[in-house]
Amino acid sequence: FGTIGIIGAMQEEIELVLARLENKQTEKHGGIVYHRGDFHGKKVVLTRSGVGKVNSAVCTQILIDRFGADAVIFTGVAGAVDPALNIGDIVVSSSSLQHDVDVTALGFPRGTIPYQDVSEYAADARLVALAELSGEKVFPGRCVTGKVLSGDQFIADRSAVKQLYEELGGACTEMEGASVAQVCHMNDIPYVVIRSMSDKADGSAHVNFAEFTIEAANRSFAIVEEMVKAL
Ligand code: ADE
Repeated sequence: FGTIGIIGAMQEEIELVLARLENKQTEKHGGIVYHRGDFHGKKVVLTRSGVGKVNSAVCTQILIDRFGADAVIFTGVAGAVDPALNIGDIVVSSSSLQHDVDVTALGFPRGTIPYQDVSEYAADARLVALAELSGEKVFPGRCVTGKVLSGDQFIADRSAVKQLYEELGGACTEMEGASVAQVCHMNDIPYVVIRSMSDKADGSAHVNFAEFTIEAANRSFAIVEEMVKAL
């Protein structure tokens, strides 16, 4: 890849890379700050999108249009949806879907955007394979590949998370991955989402999130670093 776009939603999620970026040049567009630089000899653009699907969608389009990103990696934390996952475990996206899209009243399944070719966006096979390899190397036995569910909602409820698992078969839930994926799909750009679990999206999610976000964000970043080295 020529230029790799790396997105995190929060400062904790990009901080470690930011400190290590060489030949850093910073620009602001549409209210979002972008840092160009070299990371392990690769050209990257690192950015904090802000939280939620609109922020991350705008951020991704700008990465593609203004910075020529030809691959996008999202790094960060998520709530575990698959009950087999524990805090600190890592999910590599096989695909992603917006769980809060609801046009069920018109007969469309939950998560389906009407009149569109796809609503579940497959992640790039090469980036997924590389993320899996990197993940196994850094955190052996703690990585799974699965469906990432995104929505403009912090899920902190046992029945809500159970429903996400049973209805949509998600591995984890967060607030940006699928909108990044949709923009990448619209532009024919490969993407992958890497998420480390900060909580289990249940009644304790807010407490766990506060306690484990920094550690989980750093775990996700460690995998991205390993990937960039190998790209
Ligand atoms: N990011 C981390 N934990 C989350 C949760 N429970 N819901 C949505 N986004 C999250």
